[in-house]
Amino acid sequence: MIPMANYIISGSPKNFGGSVNISGSKNSALPIMTAALLSADCSRIHNLPRLSDTMVMCDIISSLGCAVQREPDGSVVISADISRPKRSCGYEMFSKLRASVLIMAPLLARFGKAKIPLPGGCKIGARPIDLHLKGFTAMGAKIRQGHGFIEASAPSGLTGCRIYLDFPSVGATENLMTAACLADGATTILNAANEPEICDLADFLNGMGAKVSGAGTDTVTITGTPRLHGCEHTIIPDRIEAGTFLVFAAGLGTELIVRNAEPKHLKPLLAKLGEMGFDCEAGSDFIDLHPSGRPKAVDIKTMPYPGFPTDLQAQAMALLTTGDGSGMVVETIFENRFTHIPELCRMGAQIKTEGNAAFIKGVRHLSGAEVRATDLRAGAALVAAALKAGGKSVIHNIEHIERGYESFTDKLRNLGADIRRED
Ligand code: UD1
Repeated sequence: MIPMANYIISGSPKNFGGSVNISGSKNSALPIMTAALLSADCSRIHNLPRLSDTMVMCDIISSLGCAVQREPDGSVVISADISRPKRSCGYEMFSKLRASVLIMAPLLARFGKAKIPLPGGCKIGARPIDLHLKGFTAMGAKIRQGHGFIEASAPSGLTGCRIYLDFPSVGATENLMTAACLADGATTILNAANEPEICDLADFLNGMGAKVSGAGTDTVTITGTPRLHGCEHTIIPDRIEAGTFLVFAAGLGTELIVRNAEPKHLKPLLAKLGEMGFDCEAGSDFIDLHPSGRPKAVDIKTMPYPGFPTDLQAQAMALLTTGDGSGMVVETIFENRFTHIPELCRMGAQIKTEGNAAFIKGVRHLSGAEVRATDLRAGAALVAAALKAGGKSVIHNIEHIERGYESFTDKLRNLGADIRRED
């Protein structure tokens, strides 16, 4: 991660468009990399996106004593042939990556103990891990917290049980589903998250010999087995990256084909783009957004999958800033996910907020300005705004953006954007 870097974007490029290849999903890659530690055998994971977040996860896994080999073709080979994990890296590394909490599942299930630095809060909200811990406790683990660490132990192994999640948390579903694979007996997770990344993780676990059923519904059942083996798996396409590029093109009113995408994972965004007046043609692995005029204003409310993803909320709001009419965006997943709004307003957007609702009055044009990316998706929203604004924009703190978009400037430049990275 390189701090203090900026993007310089000259807005309203003349010939933006063409096609872009979508990378593997960051949010699938992270839990799958940790799940590979359930077995001593090697697992080979293809289509792993090359991002600072996946690099940090590689470092965390290596620090435990496991072998992690990145291959030139974009795959990673993970071998957790260890008798017990080394004391892993400390707070600094774990705090870079919220998903580091997913390391708990394989360590607890396979070695009977997991001790990690508490992940803490972050810009988009407090993000507690109480549901993860409630589930581990129900499976028989003892939890201790102190000095900024969290320790879960189950020296005689975990026991299958029924777990009801008070909220369909993606991370809690992933952590508990992974831990339950080596538990004694069956575990049922009720009110489980249904995100496509949960299905991808279940496919990986089943490839390792686990018995996971119901992934993609609100009830996931895992029948524990004493041992798992390594496997080979290909990560699904990143639906948020695909959605972000569609928003970029929609804002400019130009045609764009996103390739190596999974259109069925993007139904909520495609529905909203349809309401805005965009014509999208979906094939088996591509989406073709046809050129069009100014978007019609619409209302959007984020919800757990298959509702509208919170990870596309900021980008969709950037699109509505130049919409025809007034729209509303309600954020129901994270309590502090409107930090892009003051930055969009610096570019001429007209947005007011009340609690978790934002009211956007569409304007005809935005103007380039100096702005700051406050988190990954907020940063993507600023890029969407800068691309269609008149004049030059400077986006600071782009290390947030590069946590989640592989080869971002190259992909944008290939489409005709005038974007430069400045360290
Ligand atoms: C994952 C995604 C993130 C996405 C989010 C929601 C990864 C690496 N990240 O994050 O990009 O925005 O899903 O789709 O996959 N909660 C609790 N207690 C818990 C766990 C969660 O109260 O123990 C709350 C959170 O504070 C939040 C809500 O549940 O308000 C959703 O969080 P969750 O689904 O767990 O998101 P993550 O897994 O952290």
